[in-house]
Amino acid sequence: MAMRTHTCGELGLDQIDTSATICGWVNTFRDQGKGLVFVDVRDRAGMTQAVFDQEDCDPEVMEAARSLRREDVVQITGAVGRREGGVNPRLATGEIEIRGKGLTIFSRASNPPILPDDHEASKISEEVRLRHRYIDLRRPSMQRTLQMRHDLCALTRQYFHNLSFLEVETPLLIKSTPEGARDFIVPSRIYPGKWYALPQSPQIFKQILMVAGCDRYLQICKCLRDEDPRADRQAEFTQIDLEMSFVDRDEVLKIMTGFVRRVFKHLLGLDLGQVPRMSWREAIDVWGSDRPDLRFDLPLTDISEIAGRTDFKVFQSALAKEDGVVKAIRIPASADKLTRKVLDQLQETAKTHGAGGLPWTKVTENGFEGGIAKFINNVADDLAATLEIEPGDTILMGCDSWLHACESLGQVRLHAARVLDLVDTTAWKALWVVDFPMFRWSEDKQRWLSEHHPFTAPLPEDIEKLETDPGAVVSAGYDMVLNGSEIGGGSIRIHDPEVQETVFRILGLSEEERAVKFGFLLDALKQGAPPHGGVAFGLDRLVMLLTSTDNIRDVIAFPKTQNGADLMTDAPGPVDGEQLDELHVSVVEEASV
Ligand code: AMO
Repeated sequence: MAMRTHTCGELGLDQIDTSATICGWVNTFRDQGKGLVFVDVRDRAGMTQAVFDQEDCDPEVMEAARSLRREDVVQITGAVGRREGGVNPRLATGEIEIRGKGLTIFSRASNPPILPDDHEASKISEEVRLRHRYIDLRRPSMQRTLQMRHDLCALTRQYFHNLSFLEVETPLLIKSTPEGARDFIVPSRIYPGKWYALPQSPQIFKQILMVAGCDRYLQICKCLRDEDPRADRQAEFTQIDLEMSFVDRDEVLKIMTGFVRRVFKHLLGLDLGQVPRMSWREAIDVWGSDRPDLRFDLPLTDISEIAGRTDFKVFQSALAKEDGVVKAIRIPASADKLTRKVLDQLQETAKTHGAGGLPWTKVTENGFEGGIAKFINNVADDLAATLEIEPGDTILMGCDSWLHACESLGQVRLHAARVLDLVDTTAWKALWVVDFPMFRWSEDKQRWLSEHHPFTAPLPEDIEKLETDPGAVVSAGYDMVLNGSEIGGGSIRIHDPEVQETVFRILGLSEEERAVKFGFLLDALKQGAPPHGGVAFGLDRLVMLLTSTDNIRDVIAFPKTQNGADLMTDAPGPVDGEQLDELHVSVVEEASV
């Protein structure tokens, strides 16, 4: 005999007068004292009401029903009947109830520290929820998220299977793959003093699979990066990882656009439409970000020429820099809402993102007033015309070298839109950001860094600039951005070993480092490498968008906290000395400061 005939989400009027057995957790119970006990039983599929009537049940069943408490695990058998207490329109099973005859209590929940109610979840600290994740995951919204994650994985496999992608697993214990983060490392027992790295992504392996003739590769894989978690970032996260041979950028973008459109069509019934492309330069210049949120306006306008005609020192010193600019955002009808306090907060945002401050002024019937108004008197008319001002506007400005000014003002743009509630939360705005610079100069390290990763190819027409003017080389990299979130990134790769050597050299790798770290890749590229390219989507970030949450921990069954801890298992934890000895590792106590 099967333990249950139905899930808790499927009984309805079609089953009236038949016998049914359901299993699940006691969501609620009510003993009305009139010989009736009502029990709502919940499983992954939904909730069903059972009622035990002392007129109808054996006394021991009635006694067991009276002893039930929330989250006990039960099996209930009985006839399906119309609900006597009236239909519950909020439940799929709301028209029926089970008239309980048999009751088995599989296990008791002893005084549950939390209850899996969605409407109570916000009142419980996330720490407590993560510690008792086995209860927290029972909440219907968490079950829906797990389902959405599963549906996305199933759709992914189907879509790429239909396009002849092969699912191939790549190893977890590897030599470091540089993706710009710190590696997690694992000591080797067999080779004293040597370490494996956990993959920041399968990047090099998927490229080698192309050299190996795999043609089209897919993997839903774990990536591990030892960086501080954030709202949309975990140290351990999942990618939908892809690579293709004999493709150019247009073909990769076409296949991936088709995939993302299919995801949103099938899982949310939503047509994302054509996904436009925007150059990195335009994204930074106009929206202040390489992942612009286009659900609201507020573009950045260049006012350098006008600002240069003022005597305002802040403008002058910014413009004296090599690529110094002054940029402005006009925020319409905001003068009342952007109070002094809010302006101070925006100022803080600007400073956190590298700006010296946030010059501002407001627009009244009489022109600019407040903030830096007195410094721009002599250019007020030109500024008014360029920014097309209206009374009630606020003007926020950023001045620095081009990238710094744009990026800090871009953050201010996001902050202001949030405060003023300008984000159209019903809109879906996807775009491909393309034509990134190949390299970024690091003042700290005094050398070039890769904007994507070292295996990204330059645009063919820029190859010759690699040695002469690395800063001007545009890469064949691309990022997909949806509602301001970077959901995927990739590139056409370097398949010519000489170009790869040159890029390593520009990145400051000595001949020895190139041989030790990447000799195997260079060897592989010398054995017949097809032109190839690919992309990786952030699975967690896609599920965040699909379930409308801005907390990545909501979409991962067992996430780490902001401090990188797993509160349920209490990891990381100590290991015993013997284990460390076997691994040839000793722990150095940090000197107390
Ligand atoms: P990249 O590092 O851009 O590229 O990662 C690809 C996508 O993975 C997601 N992502 C993350 N999600 C959650 N937490 C994190 N810490 C995190 N880091 C990245 C983002 C991002 O767009 N090997 C290359 C891909 C390629 O070139 O094919 C790579 O890993 O959504």
